[in-house]
Amino acid sequence: MLACTSKRVPQTDDYKANRAVVIRILNEALATEIVCVLRYKRHHYMAKGIHSLAVEEEFPEHAKEEQGHADKSAERITQLDGEPNFDPAGDTQPKPFPICRERDSR
Ligand SMILES: [Fe+2]
Repeated sequence: MLACTSKRVPQTDDYKANRAVVIRILNEALATEIVCVLRYKRHHYMAKGIHSLAVEEEFPEHAKEEQGHADKSAERITQLDGEPNFDPAGDTQPKPFPICRERDSR
């Protein structure tokens, strides 16, 4: 598992990427990795049948790998001064309707 360094890395003058876009994409990757961790854990606990012992032992290892990927994504997000979103649903949840400002604009 990745050790958390929480060290901000300054961007060089050569860094041309849009930081907000990179952070958004990294948060999408983070959500995917979190879901992978949860799925491997579910598979571990749900493994049944004649071959279950062999696969049951594999799933926690995969979950650890995916957790490492999630940690790397979160670390890079914080290096870019972003905030990692640890909600496995990420930003894919439907947003509530925006508050109507019609009266305010009159
Ligand atoms: Fe992964």
